[in-house]
Amino acid sequence: MKPDLITLRRMIEEKMPGRAAHVFGCEKTAVKLARCWGIDEEKARFAALLHDITKQYSHVEQLKIVKKYDILIDKDFDRFPALAHAVTGAAVARAEYGADEEIANAIRYHTTGRPGMSKLEKILYLADYIEPTRDFKGLEETRELAYRDLDAAVLRATAECLIYNLKKARPIHPVTIEAYNEMAEAAAKSLS
Ligand SMILES: [Fe+2]
Ligand SMILES: [Fe+2]
Repeated sequence: MKPDLITLRRMIEEKMPGRAAHVFGCEKTAVKLARCWGIDEEKARFAALLHDITKQYSHVEQLKIVKKYDILIDKDFDRFPALAHAVTGAAVARAEYGADEEIANAIRYHTTGRPGMSKLEKILYLADYIEPTRDFKGLEETRELAYRDLDAAVLRATAECLIYNLKKARPIHPVTIEAYNEMAEAAAKSLS
């Protein structure tokens, strides 16, 4: 059931030509981060290759996947349609590509984060944010931090995302706020 890497990369190029460079950048970065932080490289690679597997679908199609795989969703699924692909992507990765629980969770939380993230979840969250095709102010500092202090880098990336969305007066997913509070409290505790 688990596809080989060549088949998977080819499928990504065919299925999402506009997003392939981002996905492959994410793969490269996730593997580098996994090596740095002592995490299974192949799990990180597989999670990165699959993380946006349902991103090209409309919300109606996302809802069809929810139905097909009997995914338990809450009101936030419709409130944050741009984040729905993380929920459906995790289910598709598991059902159609043989992803295990750890990989499925990394995909599930790559957009929002969550309190108590695993190392693999942190690595995919960061890889998605710092991969080489991304380019915005302040990113170099987060890139450098990702290889020096994983938790500090995840906190910084989350804070930057929050600031970006707050400035645009966009709603914030509640689990991101919970994750941010947990990380900020832990960081403050480690300083005191
Ligand atoms: Fe995504
Ligand atoms: Fe992505």
